[in-house]
Amino acid sequence: MIIRNDRELQKMQEIGRIVALTLQEMANSLCPGLTTGELDLLGAKVLADQGAKSAPIAVYNFPGHTCISVNEEVAHGIPGPRILRPGDQVNIDVSASKNGFFADTAATFLLAPVKNQRRRLVEAAQLALEKALAAARSGNRLNLLGLAVEKLAHKHGYKTIRNLCGHGVGRTLHEDPETIYNYYEKKDKRILEAGMTLAVETFVAEAEDHVLEDRDGWTLKTPHKTFTAQFEHTIMVRDGEPLILTLPE
Ligand code: CO
Ligand code: CO
Repeated sequence: MIIRNDRELQKMQEIGRIVALTLQEMANSLCPGLTTGELDLLGAKVLADQGAKSAPIAVYNFPGHTCISVNEEVAHGIPGPRILRPGDQVNIDVSASKNGFFADTAATFLLAPVKNQRRRLVEAAQLALEKALAAARSGNRLNLLGLAVEKLAHKHGYKTIRNLCGHGVGRTLHEDPETIYNYYEKKDKRILEAGMTLAVETFVAEAEDHVLEDRDGWTLKTPHKTFTAQFEHTIMVRDGEPLILTLPE
């Protein structure tokens, strides 16, 4: 969507803050022995307390309030009986709506003891998001975001996932622009406009550049189960730096 007035901005800020708070509370509870199902219920409680509705359930009938993807799971991991173990990599993706406005945020966490190989990948994905956001200003081509992500990934010896994208967000979870690529698409002529609300999500991959759907119909993994890391913020495009809507306060 394109935010046209203060009322719309306030509603987007409210749901942005709620999903960020939910992600933060879930992250604070991460520990070995916890199941991803228990972690999800914690997120569900924060969303309910804040008067927000889980978007994956409402929009896609996803079997969980949040997506929790562990280790070889890239995205859309289903919360359940899986027990978190020392050294696990955990991606938590929270999207929700309130008063008809949606926001989407995610981050990847590492449980101790952390291997260097994992830390480097996760740090690269986080840095890739920072670089992509720095390119998100009105008047710029949308494909500069993908260029920034790809450049950062290559610099660190990584790839990016080509069949997972960021997206417009606001009136629903996934809306126009539907595809914010994690690579440079030269032919993409779309231009960013002030007020546009985008969920920018950067998937950096250690070895393989695409994902496949698991037999459960939801979970995404690379063909040989090599690892990826992802971070995501919902932002509003402006003339200068974007306004990040998914910060906890
Ligand atoms: Co998300
Ligand atoms: Co998203």
